[in-house]
Amino acid sequence: MIRPAELIERKRNGGELSAEEIAELVLGYTRGEVADYQMAAWCMAVYFRGLNGRETHALTDAMIRSGETLDLGAALGRRVVDKHSTGGVGDKTSLVVGPIVAACGVPFGKMSGRGLGHTGGTLDKLESIPGYRVELTTEEFVSQVRDVGLAIIGQTGDLVPADKKLYALRDVTGTVDIVPLIASSIMSKKIAGGADAIVLDVKVGDGAFMKTLDDARILAEQMVDLGKRADRAVVCLLTDMDQPLGQAVGNALEVGETVATLKGHGPEDFTELVLDACGHLLALSDLGVEVDEGRRRAQRAVADGSALDAYRRWIQAQGGDPDLAALPMAPVRREVTASRTGIVTRLGALAVGTAALELGAGRRTKEDAIDHAVGVVCLRKRGEQVATGAVLAEVHARDEDSAASAVEAVLAAYELGEEPPHAHGILLDVIS
Ligand code: URA
Repeated sequence: MIRPAELIERKRNGGELSAEEIAELVLGYTRGEVADYQMAAWCMAVYFRGLNGRETHALTDAMIRSGETLDLGAALGRRVVDKHSTGGVGDKTSLVVGPIVAACGVPFGKMSGRGLGHTGGTLDKLESIPGYRVELTTEEFVSQVRDVGLAIIGQTGDLVPADKKLYALRDVTGTVDIVPLIASSIMSKKIAGGADAIVLDVKVGDGAFMKTLDDARILAEQMVDLGKRADRAVVCLLTDMDQPLGQAVGNALEVGETVATLKGHGPEDFTELVLDACGHLLALSDLGVEVDEGRRRAQRAVADGSALDAYRRWIQAQGGDPDLAALPMAPVRREVTASRTGIVTRLGALAVGTAALELGAGRRTKEDAIDHAVGVVCLRKRGEQVATGAVLAEVHARDEDSAASAVEAVLAAYELGEEPPHAHGILLDVIS
């Protein structure tokens, strides 16, 4: 039997824990035999002392062993792909990537989470579609991936219960933003979820966990390493989250942008990221194509309408109404206009995400209800020239008061200058 206090002290003093000790600690915590205060103290010791590669692997492994695991590849007799983002503002990538990949003939099965704070969650976006069921049984999930080619559901409680408990604890004890804990949390869920190949999108910048490219690279390398140890093919894209992704921020608004993008009318940065992610996913699949060919096939699936067809089939299979007219709409719509002429030098992702959160698009605590209709549409992005009075953004609100506050907050998120900002694409690096 381990003594949790001894493990906390050893980690606090910079020592190393064995795989068995980590497993007993994590599994004991999941069973309720290790107290919250001890696990919180251990996480804080890890925050300051870190975990080495072996310890991070042992932690990931223990979290996977805390619950059920799926083997989608074996169930389908095909290589199944999945994608995961570390979370950002306006990030509806999975909603577009899933149907494109499925239209290209590759099964896509994903378990998603809800948003917390200024970042939105895929499940919340999907729940803005009337009728959409995020809770399928494991059998329903597997047969939908087999029959429809695509399913996105909420993570079942049986999968990685250790992470559910630990993440909630980290969230309230200042121990979320530490690389080995983030890497093991994400990768335990991805590995237990059963896909054979995973594309990870690590967001970098003001609106993301990882504020710098160097920190994002360290996280990416650790996650790729954990994937390899579990025999999964993993590619990590490092992408820009200094400004919101695409234009729409807010649940139903993002579903609207999803459909526009599947029709080939999406915002440029978002379309670029979708094609990059699809290229890598198809290259990791059993199609046997390179990334460039994967990208071309993704473009074709959008151009010939098969991706949009796959979207409609998927939403209907999960009980939802795929028509845009079915989405909720906010009663108050206000414009944010430029008070001077200039070039947009900055559009703060965190500020826009927080404005959407204040409108009701996100939740501060897990219990908060979401208003699916509200949000912000950023019509002008970094590098664009605007004239005085030009519409920079639109606010979609429940009432006049919240609209007025959001208009002010979104205006403050825009910085206008004379010189164009340093230009770079959405994709900053690829780690594999
Ligand atoms: N997302 C997760 O799933 N876990 C973390 O620790 C951070 C982001």
